Amino acid sequence: MTISIEWAEKYRPRSLSEVVGNKKAVMDLQAWAEEWLHGVPEKRAVILQGQAGIGKTSAAHALANDYGWEIIELNASDQRTASVIERVAGSASKMRTLSGTDSKRLIILDEADNIHGTSDRGGARAIGDIIKKTNQPIVLIANDLYGLTSTLRTLCLEIKFHGVQSRSMVPALKNICHNEGIMCGVGVIENVAENAGGDMRSAVNDLQAVSTGRNEINIEDIATSQRDTKGSIFKVLEQIFKGTDAQKALNATYGLDENPEDLVHWIDENLPGQYGGGGAGKVNVKVDGIDVDVSNGFEYLSHADRYLGRVKKRQNYRMWRYAGVLMTCGAVVAKTHVHGGFIKYQPPSFWRRLGQLRARRTMRDNVASKIGEHCHESMRYARADLTSMYGRMLKDEKYAVDTLINLNLNLDELAYMTGSPKVTKKLQGVYDQAQSIINEKVSDDIEFFAAPKTDRSNKIKSKNDSQVSLDSIQNIIETTAPADVSNEKDDAKSSVAKKRESRKPQKTLFDF
Ligand SMILES: Nc1ncnc2c1ncn2[C@@H]1O[C@H](COP(=O)(O)OP(=O)(O)OP(=O)(O)O)[C@@H](O)[C@H]1O
Ligand SMILES: [Mg+2]
Repeated sequence: MTISIEWAEKYRPRSLSEVVGNKKAVMDLQAWAEEWLHGVPEKRAVILQGQAGIGKTSAAHALANDYGWEIIELNASDQRTASVIERVAGSASKMRTLSGTDSKRLIILDEADNIHGTSDRGGARAIGDIIKKTNQPIVLIANDLYGLTSTLRTLCLEIKFHGVQSRSMVPALKNICHNEGIMCGVGVIENVAENAGGDMRSAVNDLQAVSTGRNEINIEDIATSQRDTKGSIFKVLEQIFKGTDAQKALNATYGLDENPEDLVHWIDENLPGQYGGGGAGKVNVKVDGIDVDVSNGFEYLSHADRYLGRVKKRQNYRMWRYAGVLMTCGAVVAKTHVHGGFIKYQPPSFWRRLGQLRARRTMRDNVASKIGEHCHESMRYARADLTSMYGRMLKDEKYAVDTLINLNLNLDELAYMTGSPKVTKKLQGVYDQAQSIINEKVSDDIEFFAAPKTDRSNKIKSKNDSQVSLDSIQNIIETTAPADVSNEKDDAKSSVAKKRESRKPQKTLFDF
């Protein structure tokens, strides 16, 4: 027997009805797709979330197949910068399909939890913007929801995929063996399914591996070693906090993608919640009002942290080992009794704070560069010496609108400058007022600047004998202009478009 292609690929479900297990998720996905047939649903995008190899990508493709939708896919391998996302997914979300008016385009963003890792941090925001406006269905796929921004999560319908139960896998695996002409001994398939830990891809791969060069497989052919299922951080935390076997917990961390520097943050974040909580009918021991288990745990973490510091200082990564043992085994043995109760483990708030700080810094610099541009000063000078003065002017009803127009700030920047944690009605009012003045001004400017083009527009006017808007003039120029004129037209168009986009009023002498 020759094995030319991977069975996992060969037996990928083509229709949702072929997806094994996860019936609820499949039904939710179908229901959402049905909504698209009758207009634009409230949630224009879904997130398919779950561990690896359980059919998320397959389900997204099967959905498109079932409904005859075209697929536009953006994989992690593509450079998913904001501009690429906007160009590929953004335009796909607006355009009509090639095949017909009713048919849709399914935009699939696999490994959406990895968007942060791409070079352009605007990626997640670009996706959010596209979801808000799309008239085509969008599917995001992620292993871990915490890798997605909260804005993205609120915009999407979350559909959770679970590990495939081994008894659901068995018939599908048997079917593969039947198709491949392989005879299976008693319990072989069940064994493969059990060992896969819910990961159907692994089960299919294991089955293919064990069948290589055979047309009959028996239980002895199956390696007895248990599959090293790569545990999620949540499972590992559970082993650490709820388990009593330090070695087992340590082994579990080896399968993680996190390095000790990240793991220590995870343990640090969740240790107080778990060890400070109730204890399966037992009362927590306290000294000076502090839970002994919590303080013991932190004691070990601080030792681990010392080693992490040494790793950095001496660039000796062998010491990660000690740090790992101290934080993992330390946290296991720190407890005086097993703490029951369900705790929803949280990602380290330290990371969140870092993210917030970064966002604030970006906002601060954007505003400073706008102030600098307006005052013809450097961004640094504007940041240090001018921001607070403009902040006060923006808070003052008398100057707010004028200042806003001059600085060309957006709503979020206005809120930031006035120190408001969110956009209030008052700020919205100031912003709207400024916008209407800008709009008036822009249309004046357009008329003024459009004057030299009257030759062309007059010609068109006389031809059509009707009122022609600037946009339609540009459209006609686009289709009729000779090549040498097109550049000029592009310039003219972009200057007008830019003017509109930036809504920046023409500067007067009084602005300087
Ligand atoms: N629920 C399932 N039903 C049938 N086959 C499945 C299922 N889940 C996984 N498989 C098999 O595993 C292969 C990989 O599945 P898929 O790519 O959909 O996994 P995934 O959940 O997207 O994983 P990852 O998170 O690693 O991308 C499929 O080609 C198919 O052969
Ligand atoms: Mg996938």
